[in-house]
Amino acid sequence: MPVISILNQKGGAGKTTIAVNLAHALKLEGGKVLLVDSDPQGSARDWNEANEGEIVPVVGLDRETLPKDLQAIKAGYDWVIIDGAPQIAKLSGAAVKASDLVVIPCQPSPYDVWAAADLVDIIKARQDVTNGKPLAAFIISRAIKNTKLGREVQEALEGYELPIMHSSTTQRVAYPTTASEGQTVFVEPKSAAAQEVNLIKNEVKELLNDLKS
Ligand SMILES: Nc1ncnc2c1ncn2[C@@H]1O[C@H](COP(=O)(O)OP(=O)(O)O)[C@@H](O)[C@H]1O
Ligand SMILES: [Mg+2]
Repeated sequence: MPVISILNQKGGAGKTTIAVNLAHALKLEGGKVLLVDSDPQGSARDWNEANEGEIVPVVGLDRETLPKDLQAIKAGYDWVIIDGAPQIAKLSGAAVKASDLVVIPCQPSPYDVWAAADLVDIIKARQDVTNGKPLAAFIISRAIKNTKLGREVQEALEGYELPIMHSSTTQRVAYPTTASEGQTVFVEPKSAAAQEVNLIKNEVKELLNDLKS
């Protein structure tokens, strides 16, 4: 089963938001999904407690032994989503090692783009010794609707030489309001937020398919 991690060492990048919503989107189309909380702060575990474990199973693996620990528990799942930890380079490295695909949420600001540099180094160092695995791509998080991505942001992201996903999350109150109840944007399955998460899910699946072919 594919392991997808949502990583960025910058706090507030949108990792947990994308992780829980993507996990739910995959479950709603019939997948068996395991969500791994690699953040010692435990946001995904708090979310899981708030919904009494009813959306997807969440397990906390916030040590460097994550790749090995995950190996022991991932059997039987169609998808594993890892919600990344901020700041702790060793935990990011462990998640990169365990992943088939790394999705890097980045807010459309130069500061956020610059802050991704360390993570990109970790990913590229791994790719160099493993024939390009894991695949990694940026996703714009909290884009302001109807504004073009700033040229500086676009150029800075391109400088990393990793793909930038076409799908993104836009700035919407539905994300924090649903999260605060332990839910996801799929409480309203036809909402614009649910649609944008479904586009992310589809693009993630396409990226993984490219990997196979
Ligand atoms: N697309 C979005 N629109 C509005 N708020 C968002 C969006 N994405 C994330 N947020 C909010 O931003 C804050 C940080 O997001 P979070 O997913 O917790 O980031 P991280 O896990 O990277 O620290 C949270 O309060 C979250 O609800
Ligand atoms: Mg988080």
